[in-house]
Amino acid sequence: MESFSVSIKPHAVCIPFPAQGHLNPMMKLAKLLHFKGFHITFVNTEFNHGRLLKYSRGAAALDSFPDFQFETIPDGLPPPQIEGQQDVPALCESTSKNCLVPFRNLLDRLNSTEGCPPISCIVSDGIMSFTLDAAKELGIPEVLFMTWSACGSLGYMLYKPLIDRGLTPLKDESYLTNGYLDTVIDWTPGKNIRLRDLPSFIQTTNQDDFLLKFVVSVLIERVQRASAVIFNTFHEFEHDVISVLTSMLPPIYTIGPLQLQLNQILQTHLRSINSNLWKEEPECLQWLDSKEPKSVVYVNFGSVTVLTAEQLVEFAWGLANSKQSFLWITRPDLVRGDSSILPPEFLEETKERSLMVNWCSQEEVLNHPAIGGFLTHSGWNSTIESVGCGVPMVCWPFFADQLTNCRYACTEWGIGMEIDGNVRRDEVEKLVRELMEGNKGKEMRKNAQEWKGKAEKAVSPEGSSFLNLEKLIKEVLLT
Ligand code: UDX
Repeated sequence: MESFSVSIKPHAVCIPFPAQGHLNPMMKLAKLLHFKGFHITFVNTEFNHGRLLKYSRGAAALDSFPDFQFETIPDGLPPPQIEGQQDVPALCESTSKNCLVPFRNLLDRLNSTEGCPPISCIVSDGIMSFTLDAAKELGIPEVLFMTWSACGSLGYMLYKPLIDRGLTPLKDESYLTNGYLDTVIDWTPGKNIRLRDLPSFIQTTNQDDFLLKFVVSVLIERVQRASAVIFNTFHEFEHDVISVLTSMLPPIYTIGPLQLQLNQILQTHLRSINSNLWKEEPECLQWLDSKEPKSVVYVNFGSVTVLTAEQLVEFAWGLANSKQSFLWITRPDLVRGDSSILPPEFLEETKERSLMVNWCSQEEVLNHPAIGGFLTHSGWNSTIESVGCGVPMVCWPFFADQLTNCRYACTEWGIGMEIDGNVRRDEVEKLVRELMEGNKGKEMRKNAQEWKGKAEKAVSPEGSSFLNLEKLIKEVLLT
């Protein structure tokens, strides 16, 4: 009887792009679909699955759920030279060239495994759209999960017209600094945007730039073949860009913030599994317990950002001179080269009011009452997680959609202040102080709290994201 009920479940195969900022939201979506009654096969690269088993909380349980199973395929790359380093362009190239064959073989095997429900749909990261060929062969729907922002996606959609108009690639390096990037182009009705606010790959002088071409072929052209696209955002937050994207993309379902959707689900053992590719250091939560409410700046640049040794030192002295308490997550590969040593004077001066660890449970940190602000690289997950916790930000965008996310945080949502790319300690000091003690900081915190309320409403029953997830399942995944 039990095996009968298992065998009639719809079966979703979820395949993330193999980097932390993509794995996390896909894992959340997979758990939600599982909660909604799907049998899940979650496909990791062999390399990432090994890291997940090593570092992820609850990972020992990964194999013990009969209807939430993990499978692996090779990513086609040798292991990185530096532990954990995620080479995004190399992964884009390798997965798109090498992963279709093993993925197709995996689907064939799953479909001929006794007791495993036939595959009914594929949910793939937008960057992994080679999987569309496999979905077509099986005659099943495929949804592409854009794990970045909708505003970033609109930025990517503009790449082709920009190339056609000769506005990118740039003629030479001088265009990076001569004011050219302040050129404005049409954005949404009645609004312009500067070239410098678009996802960063247009800031290239290479006429054959791989990422520029990849965006056009994958995010503008191939995406059109998907049954639908999903964003980890909520309609009220990005409605202006979503209404423009609606005429450019397959049907769009905004279903975020995913972490808030997940919080609505009663505690289950699946919830205890996280998807860390680094070992988290939970003692930072105990350290936060000893701090006053809203008194600590949380500093984290995500999983890909790499600082120069000079930038590290400027951030360090900016934080020290701000006189604020801070929790700084310094990933082992955060700094380029071997000279990543923090000045001993800095360590001495801040030892009473700072903690530095390699990796943390970011959502638990952002949810902690002691956190008053977030110094971030504006990765989309960090942004939407911060919004879900009502925490204002100082933004130092590094690459990709982070530039557009930063622009929206600062000028549209009123929850961020930008640090110049050429980071200087006095600016870090000034903005961090303002964030924690100034009037602008207060106003941003109020706005962030308001957005948090709207986000909670979006995921509550009858909210836009809650209903969109139901619709996605009914209108696309189960057809
Ligand atoms: C990247 C891009 O930066 C981002 O712009 C794109 O939209 C997705 O992929 P990343 O740079 O790693 O990701 O940043 P971010 O999107 O913020 O994702 C990082 C994830 O790792 C977040 O979910 C965050 O909660 C988690 N994290 C990070 C931790 O759990 N602990 C840490 O110490 C650091």
